[in-house]
Amino acid sequence: MSTSLALIWAQTTTGVIGGEGDIPWHIPGEQRRFKEFTLGGTVIMGRKTWESFPARIRPMPGRDNIVVTRNAAYDAPGALVVGSVEQALAAADPAKQLWCIGGGEIYAQMIGLADRLEVTEVDIDAPGDAFAPPIGDDWRQASVDPESGWHESPEGLRYRYVSYLR
Ligand SMILES: NC(=O)c1ccc[n+]([C@@H]2O[C@H](COP(=O)([O-])OP(=O)(O)OC[C@H]3O[C@@H](n4cnc5c(N)ncnc54)[C@H](OP(=O)(O)O)[C@@H]3O)[C@@H](O)[C@H]2O)c1
Repeated sequence: MSTSLALIWAQTTTGVIGGEGDIPWHIPGEQRRFKEFTLGGTVIMGRKTWESFPARIRPMPGRDNIVVTRNAAYDAPGALVVGSVEQALAAADPAKQLWCIGGGEIYAQMIGLADRLEVTEVDIDAPGDAFAPPIGDDWRQASVDPESGWHESPEGLRYRYVSYLR
C-alpha cells in the first residue's frame, strides 16, 4: 500500500468509543480537529458509523466517503459502498490521505494496516458497546497535546490528543 493510512478516534479512559450508535460526549474542539485532519482525504467507515451521523453531514463534505458493509444492496447516497476493508483500500484514490474513522469493528480490522493513529483521550468513564483497538508495542507515541495536563471543554470535560506512529 503506497498511501498512508491513519486511524482517528476518541475514547474514554477505558477505551469506550461509543454506545447505542452514538458517542456519549461532546467536545467542540475535537470535532474541529477531526475536520482539519480529514479534509481533502478519504474517510473509510463501517455502516453503523455512517448511520450514526446526522443526514446533514452525510457524506462528509470535502472528503471521499467510503462505507463498508456486507449488504451489497446498501445505499449510502454520496458515498462509495464496498464489501470489505480491503475493497475500501483498493477503491480509494491513491493520491489522497486515507482516514479510518470507525467504528470499533472497522478500527480492529484496519489498525494492522495503519502507520498513524490520532487518538483523543477523554477523561471520562462512560459505559458503551464499541471499543478502541488495542495499541500494540510496535506503536510509538509521537506527541501529546498538551505536553502535560489536559485541555478542557466548555462543559468542563478534560481531554488530550495523543499521536502514534510506526
Ligand atoms: N469515538 C469515536 O471516535 C467514534 C468514531 C466512530 C464511531 N464511533 C461509534 O462507534 C459505534 C459504531 O461502531 P461499531 O463497531 O458498532 O460499528 P462500525 O464499525 O461502524 O460498523 C460495523 C458494520 O460494518 C460492516 N462491516 C464490518 N466489518 C466488515 C467486513 N469485514 N466486511 C464488510 N462489512 C463489514 C458491517 O455492516 P453491515 O452490518 O451493514 O454488514 C458491520 O455491521 C457507534 O456508537 C459510533 O458512534 C465512535
